[in-house]
Amino acid sequence: MPQSFDLFFASSNNHKFKEAKKILEEFSINLGFFRCNLEEIQSDSLKEIAKYKATQAFEKLRKPVIVEDDGLFIDSLNGFPGPYSSYVFKTIGNKGILNLLKQKRKASFVSIISYHDKNSQKSFDSKSIGTISKKIIGKGWGYDPIFIPSNYKKTFAQLKNKNEVSHRFKALKKFASWYFDS
Ligand code: IMP
Repeated sequence: MPQSFDLFFASSNNHKFKEAKKILEEFSINLGFFRCNLEEIQSDSLKEIAKYKATQAFEKLRKPVIVEDDGLFIDSLNGFPGPYSSYVFKTIGNKGILNLLKQKRKASFVSIISYHDKNSQKSFDSKSIGTISKKIIGKGWGYDPIFIPSNYKKTFAQLKNKNEVSHRFKALKKFASWYFDS
C-alpha cells in the first residue's frame, strides 16, 4: 500500500532527512523524503536561502514541504563559515577549520526550517551554542566530529542523544508546535 506522508523534506542530504524524520516522529508527524537538488542563492542570510529553496521545492512537488538550511558560525572568525558552511566543508573540511583556530573556540550551529504549502510560507530558526574541538573526534557526518554542544564534553558525532539537543531538533520543535496550532 502506498505510504501517506504528512509533509515532505526536500534535500539531497540523507543524513539531515534521517534526523529530521526521527525528530518529527516524536511529534507524530510522518515525514517523506523528496530527494532533490535545489538551487542555492548567494546570500548572507540563511533564512533567505532556506525560503528560496522552500519555494522551489513547493513548485516542484506541489505538496506541503520543508527545507532546512544550516550554518556553523565560529565567533573568533567573525561568524565564518556561516552561510558558506557547505562550500567550506567541501573545500577545506574539518581539518581546514581546525587549522584556522587557536585558543578561542566558541561557535554556534544554526538551523533554519522553512515550510511551504499552497497557503503559507513560514520559517523557524534555532541554534545550538558550543565549541570547536581541538581534533576530529568520532565518525559522524559533516561538522559533527568537531562540534561540542555546551554542557557536554563530547562532539555531536559521539553523542547518542544528538537528536535531543541539536539545532535541528530545536528548530523542528518550533515548527511542530506551529504546525499543530495552525
Ligand atoms: P547546508 O544546510 O546543507 O548548506 O549545511 C551546511 C553545512 O553544514 C553542510 O556542510 C552540512 O553537511 C553541515 N551540517 C548541517 N547540519 C549538520 C549537522 O547536524 N551536523 C554536521 N554537519 C551539519
